Amino acid sequence: MENSERALDEAAQLLVESRHVVALVGAGLSAESGVPTFRGPGGLWTKLGEPSMNGYQEFLGDPVRWWRDQQDQQADPDRTEFREAIERAEPNPGHYALAALERMGILKMTITQNVDDLHARAGQEMLAEIHGNRTKLRCISCESRWPRDHFEGQDYPIYCPECRGLVKSDTVMFGEPIPRGMLDLCFSQTEMCDCMIVCGTSATVYPAASFPQTVRERGGAFIEANPNPTPLSPIANVVLRGQNGQVLPALVERVKVLKG
Ligand code: APR
Repeated sequence: MENSERALDEAAQLLVESRHVVALVGAGLSAESGVPTFRGPGGLWTKLGEPSMNGYQEFLGDPVRWWRDQQDQQADPDRTEFREAIERAEPNPGHYALAALERMGILKMTITQNVDDLHARAGQEMLAEIHGNRTKLRCISCESRWPRDHFEGQDYPIYCPECRGLVKSDTVMFGEPIPRGMLDLCFSQTEMCDCMIVCGTSATVYPAASFPQTVRERGGAFIEANPNPTPLSPIANVVLRGQNGQVLPALVERVKVLKG
């Protein structure tokens, strides 16, 4: 079912009558905040090519060099454009719509692939940042997290004060396993979910792309909010073909009417 008044009403009805709504979010939600997506026209990987899968192994092999490279990358013009866009970015109406659904008690958890911290800045609290958060650091052993500047001025490599494990950016690198605790949270939320709203993701990266399929296989419903088709479109109960910054606020308005 394509985006229409009826599709929005159907989606709102699904949200209101479901017990445990979970959102799965991708870069498309932040596109209207000026943050480039990864794939498709103008995407970061479209321009730069996908990063190598051995970035994480390089970190493990020489964490001092990795930290030094992080400093040097500050100077990399290609990445500067992306970093400046993400640092300038503000939450857009799509982020605020999800925060509104969370405040209304409709949205129980948002599993986001985005590392831009815009959900938290829009007021969301129930967040599973499956690919990490660029404003934080994480111990790869005990998964403790700190603000990015917590160890400012310390020598490299940075060791965890809790367990002496190695500390790196919280952002999950290509080839890096998703932290166990985060993965368990996402799987348990998916198990409890009877309606997943999938916003702005190409549904090409796993395990995130498997979550809507799991919900459907268990008899749940899934709503796709994306201006373009994705591999998951054929199994969506409702498709909202539009920019998230427009369709999600429209959806919230209908939910408010249904909830009275
Ligand atoms: N509103 C909603 N969706 C949009 C918008 C918009 N305004 N603009 C683009 N999109 C959609 C595109 O149609 C596409 O389906 O956003 C999606 C972006 O897809 P990707 O660039 O592949 O981003 P994402 O799905 O988040 O990638 C997943 O891949 O490289 C990894 O770690 C990276 O978390 C990322 C993961």
